[in-house]
Amino acid sequence: MNDLSCLPPGPKWGFWQPLAYAQSAYHFLPKVHARYGDPFTVHFSLPTVVTGHPDGIRQIFTAPVDTFCVLIPMSIRRVLGEQDLRAIGGEAHRRPRKLIAPGFQKTALDDIGLMIHESTVQALKNWRDGDTIDINNALQDITLEVILKTVFGVDGRADFEPFRLAVKNLAASWGNPSYMLSAALRIDSDEWPPNRRVNIARRKLADLLLDDIKKRRTREEQRGDILSRLMEARFEDGGGFSDEDLVDSLLTNLLAGLTGTALLMTWLFAWMGRHEHVAERIQQEIDGLDRDDDIDAIQALPYLDAAFRECLRLYPQVPLVMRGLAKPLQVRGYELPAGINIAACSAVLHMDPDIYPQPELFNPDRFLERNYNGFEYIPFGGGYKMCVGNHLSMLQVKVMLAVLLSRGRFSQLDKGPLKVKYLGLLMGPADVRACFNAK
Ligand code: HEM
Repeated sequence: MNDLSCLPPGPKWGFWQPLAYAQSAYHFLPKVHARYGDPFTVHFSLPTVVTGHPDGIRQIFTAPVDTFCVLIPMSIRRVLGEQDLRAIGGEAHRRPRKLIAPGFQKTALDDIGLMIHESTVQALKNWRDGDTIDINNALQDITLEVILKTVFGVDGRADFEPFRLAVKNLAASWGNPSYMLSAALRIDSDEWPPNRRVNIARRKLADLLLDDIKKRRTREEQRGDILSRLMEARFEDGGGFSDEDLVDSLLTNLLAGLTGTALLMTWLFAWMGRHEHVAERIQQEIDGLDRDDDIDAIQALPYLDAAFRECLRLYPQVPLVMRGLAKPLQVRGYELPAGINIAACSAVLHMDPDIYPQPELFNPDRFLERNYNGFEYIPFGGGYKMCVGNHLSMLQVKVMLAVLLSRGRFSQLDKGPLKVKYLGLLMGPADVRACFNAK
């Protein structure tokens, strides 16, 4: 690696940095930013230069693709596999991305909205009037069912159960504190028990998916889900994804879809419990729908959209959007060398008072009063690697919430100050419970 004395200032290397980040990125990153300015350097598996300024973020997201590679630690690569888009960078990323992204585009999701609706209505039948619901757990169960159906076409209770267990098991072993600690301490051996547990859990889920894909190939089934589209997609030379590549490409999306989408809805419940006027405005919008399966009308509800955006602003699920540098890059006056990581920091950017006045307040109206460009608001990343699931997850949370609020009433039980803690892989609001009453 090149001389690192040219890097921006930051705290000296020490294994406490990954630990402090893991403990709470939302606390650690703004604190280092306040102390050292923008950009600053932190030390994870590699030195990482971080910017939370729109100019720096623009420089990262608009740089030529061959500037980048992916330098991710073994602890993440072990789960992603070799062919997940997140594990591929630079020019090599172009080919698989071109095949995967169209299946997730807004226009391709028309039928999926109705599938989400149907799955949510089915799942809701398991809730009884008067039940006290742990919102995150309950939403994870529904979301998993929706993702398995819409992305993988898994349908029917009997098919669903082994997938459900395998996904939960992988999420639990990946999110286990012992695995996170091993990652922070860079213990990479496959024989180390926390690593072995993740390997076994991933293999189990991959085998289930592989088996399902093979069965479909022999039956030549058309199910209309996203996996079917990817099985049919062809590169320019006529070739398609191999079964193993398909598993790698989609396996992590099960987890991203499950944890990210459920968490986003949990945040909204947490804020609605603490801001009655927000809950009322959302309820009014949903009550104003003629039908709760009018997917276009649900997607166009302005306040609901703004409220979800505000949730993602205050607690972005990916606080650091990382890129490896394959070539030097100028960022905010620093000539950064190849071989390090750089990151666009949503946890800092989204709290910039010049862009978001009174940034600590939950105020969805800010998204109705102003448009934020892709260097000011980055919950789904940006540039050539922007999240392919962004439209799907927004569609999913909106349709699911519309079904829940049009068929039930939720009285929130926890209204005190918000506490943030790990809910599996990601950090979210602690203790969000509600009493459910069917309408
Ligand atoms: C609220 C939910 C979600 C959030 C907040 C989220 C956020 C992100 C972020 C920040 C990135 C990194 C982007 C970058 O490097 O610039 C990403 C990448 C990605 N996400 Fe999501 N995501 C969500 C849900 C999903 C879902 C449901 C799927 C698919 C079913 C998905 C698929 C992907 C893929 C494939 C990538 C890698 C893209 C690439 O490297 O080309 N995400 N996501």
